[in-house]
Amino acid sequence: MKPQRLLFLASGRGSNFQAIARAVKEKRIPHAQIVGLISNRKEAGAVSIAKELGVPTHTLEKSAFRGSDGKWDRAAFEITLEKTIESYQPDWICLAGYMLLLGERIVERWEGKILNIHPSLLPKFKGLHAQKQALEAGERVTGCTVHLVTQEMDEGQIVEQASLEILSSDTDESLSARLLTLEHETYIRALIRLTGS
Ligand code: GRF
Repeated sequence: MKPQRLLFLASGRGSNFQAIARAVKEKRIPHAQIVGLISNRKEAGAVSIAKELGVPTHTLEKSAFRGSDGKWDRAAFEITLEKTIESYQPDWICLAGYMLLLGERIVERWEGKILNIHPSLLPKFKGLHAQKQALEAGERVTGCTVHLVTQEMDEGQIVEQASLEILSSDTDESLSARLLTLEHETYIRALIRLTGS
C-alpha cells in the first residue's frame, strides 16, 4: 500500500506536528509519510521542529502579500498557498495550530481531505481559547476534536473526539496542558484510521 502523503499547515509551537511526526517515524501510523510543513510564520516552533526532522518547509507570510493599498492581499496569498499545497501532492492536509482561515477555493479543491484539531468537544466552544471557554462555562468535562475542515471555522464532520474531566483545581494552563497530550493521541488515532492503517 502506497503511503499516504501528509502535509501540515501550522502557525505556532508545533507540538501536534511533532507528536505525529514521531508516530510516523515509529511506524505507529504505518501507512503515512510526512511530505512537508507550510507555515505563515517563519519563526514558528513548528518550522524549527520540521527543519530538525528534515521535513521540507515552506513559509508564506502575510506581509509578503500586500496590495497597493498596503493591506493584506488575501486572494494573492491564497493563490500562492494553493500552488504550494499542490506542489506537495498531499493526500491529507493536516492543520495543526494553523491560525488563518483557509480560502474557499482551497477548501473546495481539497474537500474531505483537510483535517483540523480543536481543543474542545465540538460543536461546543468554537474559536479561540476553547479551554478557557469550557472552564468559564463551568463544564465538568471537555475534550478535543479532529474534524474535516469546511468554510466555517471549527465546523465540519467530526472524525475523532476524546474527552477529559475538568478538575476543580484546574486553571487554563493545567487544563490546556492535559488537553494537549490528549490532542496528540487523538490526532494520531484519527490519522491511523484515515490512512487505512
Ligand atoms: C492546539 O491546541 C490545537 O488544538 C489548536 O492550536 C493548538 C496548536 O498547538 N488548534 P501546537 O502548535 O500543535 O502545539
